[in-house]
Amino acid sequence: MKVIAINGSPRKNWNTDTLLKKTLEGAASVGAETEIVHLYDLTFRGCVSCLACKLQNGKSLGRCVLKDDLSPVLARLHEADAVVMGSPIYFSEVTGEMRCFIERFVFQYLNYDNFSQPLSPAKKTAMIYTMNCPEEMLDKIGYTAMFKRYEDIMIRFFGNCTPLLSTNTMQVKDYSRYHLGAFDADAKKLRHETVFPQDCQKAFDLGVQLAASK
Ligand SMILES: Cc1cc2nc3c(=O)[nH]c(=O)nc-3n(C[C@H](O)[C@H](O)[C@H](O)COP(=O)(O)O)c2cc1C
Repeated sequence: MKVIAINGSPRKNWNTDTLLKKTLEGAASVGAETEIVHLYDLTFRGCVSCLACKLQNGKSLGRCVLKDDLSPVLARLHEADAVVMGSPIYFSEVTGEMRCFIERFVFQYLNYDNFSQPLSPAKKTAMIYTMNCPEEMLDKIGYTAMFKRYEDIMIRFFGNCTPLLSTNTMQVKDYSRYHLGAFDADAKKLRHETVFPQDCQKAFDLGVQLAASK
């Protein structure tokens, strides 16, 4: 059982990375082999629409042929039993790197002959999102619909997707050093000390769940 985490945050050891590592800890606790990939350490592009993954009689059918730092990652993901993707929300979306990753990861498996029969291997998937946005605003500003869109994509290609949200995150350790006056620094700190550990526990449990069943 191999579980791979994809970190779509540029910041290591911050909210997204921490939750992904907790997920992998959970997976490892039940015997899974784990790996984390930091997208911001890689040089890669999104899909370039070469359509080599759709060529008639092509040996690249269903596989991305673009050669860059993401190529070996896509190869390992193809074989993996589970993938957990994590991203901060930037301007109401996943980060650009995560978006480029998803294009490359998923488009290769899209079957233009028959949309309902993707070329993807079975895999457990999960999406972790971290954001400044408080939970009560998610519906109102369209985030719930955006999370559902990504969930639908993963379900369509891999048959399942478990989302995990970490809202109202602490963006910096010391708010007094920055022009971040719109935020209540004390409330952020308290939430980081009380709610974020619960999110970490949920991430750990998610890892156990990802590794437990195929
Ligand atoms: C460029 C940028 C854009 C952001 N846009 C949003 C946003 O639209 N909505 C939101 O809730 N948080 C937004 N945030 C806050 C981050 O999503 C939040 O701090 C997140 O937890 C950071 O994840 P990290 O700690 O893993 O880096 C933004 C942060 C940055 C740097």
